[in-house]
Amino acid sequence: MPAHDLTDVTASSDEHTIQCRGERFRRYLTAQDIQARTAELGATISSDYRNTTPILVSVLNGAFMFTADLMRGITIDCEVDFLKLSSYGDAKVSSGEVTELKRIDANIEGRDVIIVEDIVDTGLSMEYIIEKLRPLKPNSLRVCTLLHKPASTQHNVPLDYVGFQIPDLFVIGYGLDYGQIARNLPDIYILDK
Ligand code: IMP
Repeated sequence: MPAHDLTDVTASSDEHTIQCRGERFRRYLTAQDIQARTAELGATISSDYRNTTPILVSVLNGAFMFTADLMRGITIDCEVDFLKLSSYGDAKVSSGEVTELKRIDANIEGRDVIIVEDIVDTGLSMEYIIEKLRPLKPNSLRVCTLLHKPASTQHNVPLDYVGFQIPDLFVIGYGLDYGQIARNLPDIYILDK
């Protein structure tokens, strides 16, 4: 892993573990793992949507990196738009409340929409997004998430494209933050319990 000169993320002597905000995380998915799986998802989406131009609705902030790489793996015409939800703040567990900080700009009526998320944990955020977008009458609405924690998902949301199913432990890196830092790590790290 390249050295990261960050205030609060420090590499430990073991290159597979890092300290972030005083807690130890171990490397769980490498940048290569992520790129390979993202390319597969891009190829599947390209095939599934070959007769249309889908709009990817990327959920800020966490999904920005995954969205960029996913789009590069999509070989058909596609568009992108962004919405932003309130975050976990500095906590590692969901506050149980979701608010919309930025709406999408595109008119999605009659369009094929793919919501792009970094992670589905409880499923509350995804349920909220689907409830916001469905009344806008898209032709189709599907979900693509890089990570899914099936053990903690309490809301029944359809996940059409899933990169990796992971244990119910906090993860950071590749867009995912801990109190806003660690998003720029190229690999994904999991809390070392
Ligand atoms: P949910 O509403 O509980 O499914 O959580 C969705 C959002 O919480 C994600 O889009 C992330 O922003 C954040 N989140 C959930 N789990 C994690 C994690 O392990 N690390 C960092 N952020 C997370």
